[in-house]
Amino acid sequence: MKVNYKPVLTRFFSDPNSHRLNFYLQNGGYKQAKRVLTEMKPEEVIDFIKKSNLRGRGGAGFSTGMKWSFIPKNLGKDIYLVCNADESEPGTFKDRILIENDPHALIEGIIIASYAIGAKKSFIYIRGEFVEQYKILNNAIQESYVSGYLGKNVCGTNYSLDIILHRGAGAYICGEETALLSSLEGKRGYPRIKPPFPAIKGLYESPTIVNNVETLVTVKHIFENGIEWFTSIGTPKSPGPKLYCLSGHVKKPGLYELPLGMQLKDLVFDYGGGVKNDLRVKGVIPGGSSSGVLKDDELDIIMDFESLMAKGMILGTASVIVLNENVCMVDALWNIARFYHHESCGQCTPCREGSGWIEKLLERIERGHGTKDDLKIMSEIAKNMVGRTICVLADALAIPVEHFVKRYFNEFEAHILHKGCPNRQLAASNT
Ligand SMILES: Cc1cc2nc3c(=O)[nH]c(=O)nc-3n(C[C@H](O)[C@H](O)[C@H](O)COP(=O)(O)O)c2cc1C
Repeated sequence: MKVNYKPVLTRFFSDPNSHRLNFYLQNGGYKQAKRVLTEMKPEEVIDFIKKSNLRGRGGAGFSTGMKWSFIPKNLGKDIYLVCNADESEPGTFKDRILIENDPHALIEGIIIASYAIGAKKSFIYIRGEFVEQYKILNNAIQESYVSGYLGKNVCGTNYSLDIILHRGAGAYICGEETALLSSLEGKRGYPRIKPPFPAIKGLYESPTIVNNVETLVTVKHIFENGIEWFTSIGTPKSPGPKLYCLSGHVKKPGLYELPLGMQLKDLVFDYGGGVKNDLRVKGVIPGGSSSGVLKDDELDIIMDFESLMAKGMILGTASVIVLNENVCMVDALWNIARFYHHESCGQCTPCREGSGWIEKLLERIERGHGTKDDLKIMSEIAKNMVGRTICVLADALAIPVEHFVKRYFNEFEAHILHKGCPNRQLAASNT
């Protein structure tokens, strides 16, 4: 069923000038930043976002207002806001589209958030491969400086803010907030042990808030449309609009702005148009490659943080990847394992070695050399990766391993019994 929802974050995306300052100003741009800076105290801004119950859109779903309130007061140190635009989770393409089409909404969100936490310097860490998005964002930042929305006396107030746009070098791990901070400091992108959390000891050992692009853009829209608007959308614990990325074997892939708490089935069939070539669904990855997998009879699940957690999965970035009936689930999981093994930073043994062994075992099973013990060994390795590492990249592989094997056990077993992938054998016998 389609829902009655009018897009807000993406409403101007069909206009070719939506990324330009003039267009932004003609549509109410920077009014909220000005209002916040002139009429609200920083604590009031934090309380406002706390009341909205906005949860971070970078994957973990942590309360944004709560996170901002962790910044210690009067420490005498600089405070930083860092926008995470690294976006490298397979299946996820929302932040790059936001940057391309509405970079000023991101800048306005950054101004509001920086003011709230007392930051005078803010960084945007953008994925190295996003060359076009970098140019668009860089241009928007320059436009804002020239027009008095950044730099000294933002919007004519006493508040000053600089934004530094920093390009990453193409490592998935640098999206993890502490690895990002290490990378930003010019070091190797290694995650750091938490606590201390970045809000206490972050960039250059100073209090730092890291927020996702979509989170910060949403902040601006909450100020523009009000808390009532925001909380009237979605579910009580997961309110607001969400950008869903729909990809894989779906007829109409793309970015969909809809309320949080949509039924997965509706996203796939009513918005995505169902499976290409009218094939059947074999599985759906609900929230990016690390989120797990659901079978075709589980698609009535609600896409909010709680419902997926109840299944031992995560909403993650709400990036839905549809797999049709012809997909080999061993091959699909092997593909995921290759990615996480390649992207493991290597600091923690369970992740570095575990991801490597899982990749090897899956290759062996897919190529027909798997043994009966391999599935047990793989599950053991995955279990031993969870909660034993500095960051959760290890969990990001352990979660799909658990759910793919549990849901498609017969298919994994068939690979071992028949010494290879039944799909490949069938294809070979037909040629
Ligand atoms: C391996 C790994 C990669 C991540 N990649 C990203 C990313 O590309 N973008 C992002 O916003 N968050 C990413 N995160 C989550 C961040 O660590 C952090 O939770 C997020 O930026 C906080 O922003 P939010 O509170 O606005 O969601 C990643 C986490 C892990 C463990």
